[in-house]
Amino acid sequence: MEISVKSGTPEKQRSACVVVGIFERRKLSPAAERMDEATNGYISSILRRGDLEGNLGQVLLLHNIENVLCDRILLVGCGKERNINYTQYRQIIIASVNTLNDTGAMDAVSYLTDLNIKGKDTHWKVRQAVECIHHTLYSFDKLKSQKDTERRPIRKLILNVPNRRELSRGERAVREGNAIAEGSRLARELGNLPGNICTPSYLAKQAVKISSLYQNMKVTVLDQDEIEKLGMGSFLSVAKGSRQAPKLITIEYSVLGNDSKPYVLVGKGITFDSGGISIKPSPAMDEMKFDMCGAASVIGTLAAIGELQPEINVVAIIPSCENMPDGDANKPGDVVTSMAGLTIEVLNTDAEGRLILCDALTYSEKFNPNVVIDVATLTGACVVALGSQAAGLIGNHSPLINDLLSAGQYTGDRAWELPLWDEYQDQLKSNFADIANIGGKEAGTITAACFLSRFTKKYNWAHLDIAGVAWTSGKNKGATGRPVPLLTQYLLDQL
Ligand code: BES
Ligand code: MN
Ligand code: ZN
Repeated sequence: MEISVKSGTPEKQRSACVVVGIFERRKLSPAAERMDEATNGYISSILRRGDLEGNLGQVLLLHNIENVLCDRILLVGCGKERNINYTQYRQIIIASVNTLNDTGAMDAVSYLTDLNIKGKDTHWKVRQAVECIHHTLYSFDKLKSQKDTERRPIRKLILNVPNRRELSRGERAVREGNAIAEGSRLARELGNLPGNICTPSYLAKQAVKISSLYQNMKVTVLDQDEIEKLGMGSFLSVAKGSRQAPKLITIEYSVLGNDSKPYVLVGKGITFDSGGISIKPSPAMDEMKFDMCGAASVIGTLAAIGELQPEINVVAIIPSCENMPDGDANKPGDVVTSMAGLTIEVLNTDAEGRLILCDALTYSEKFNPNVVIDVATLTGACVVALGSQAAGLIGNHSPLINDLLSAGQYTGDRAWELPLWDEYQDQLKSNFADIANIGGKEAGTITAACFLSRFTKKYNWAHLDIAGVAWTSGKNKGATGRPVPLLTQYLLDQL
């Protein structure tokens, strides 16, 4: 799908379809108004007949209209004029894209980017639209023998900007939107692949393949024996219960010299989480193929960065393995030694994410990081606390937390802070090792972060628990690509 911007009046567009908004109670948007004038009141006459109220997400496609240069006009209900916010705007865009994709129109000019949204400028509206359009058109049919192909899918979409002065801003928004959409698409694609295909080795191969597409990017993949040499006893204790070989994947994007400290992203890459010996219940266990969505989002973010080539250094570190029950798997009570030297009592083998992340976090030190952000489907407790709206955010440096919160706010890919108070650390006391890998029933998301915080003392660190946002369950089960928009926005904000 090719998206571009232009500035022009709707009645003069030579296109298969012009898309304009209608507010509740049949009120015309300015673009609809112009079309109405050009057609001698045709649109308002149709509305008077009662075919479209303007309720949010309603659509009406008109054909053979006189005095305009387009083949069709698509009217899209926008709801109450003054109420349009992020969520409504996306619903309006989604309704328009789905309808366009279902009709014969292969190109269109949309004036939905002209809608007024409180506090949002052209850049925001165009970028959101671009991300949303790609997101809506995504489908995962790779593994189906019959692909569900549209007869005449939409190929070209032009988004209007209010005047020519806004064109360059609009173009930048399209470029960024396309890059974020591509990163999200990659993250969704990797997330949706099942555990028997998306293994640690597969993830490593994809990281190599994706990185090869971009300038200034380099990948290193460490195998079991090299991971052992680094002393990652905690990571390897999880990996050894599986027949799949573990991988430690590092992607380095560097445009600035070595003395510019990189932004380090660490992604949890458990390609399947059965729970191990502390095995999970069967219902919905298939969804634990999504336990590598942190890794996928970090790879997706590097792809977005590769597309945009910003002047910062970024490193992605991905510890990847399976968590399986086996004769050689971790057993409750086992004590393992992390790369940092801290000993860990594995009281629950299902709290494996922190066991692989802690060694990757220690490994991050070697890059002399500006900040380290880890991204992980870490706790079911986070789904209970925040649901699927916001990622959990915890860290040791408030400027970093605030930057991430505002990047999430701007993109709509939101996060919400939880406290990292010392008092919670007591829950991790162990009678047999330096630290236990679980902190009991209370505050599960926070105690998981407390565990990680023991390994992040040497740098500014934040942790995103994406257990609730990385995928959706139910009828539309699938990876969302979050938090690629948040992470990419955060990195772009650092320029
Ligand atoms: N990958 C899971 C977290 C998870 C569970 C994400 C359900 C999304 C939905 C993680 O490895 C895990 O199993 N965490 C345990 C921790 C507990 C044993 C302290 C959990 O949340 O139950
Ligand atoms: Mn687990
Ligand atoms: Zn897990």
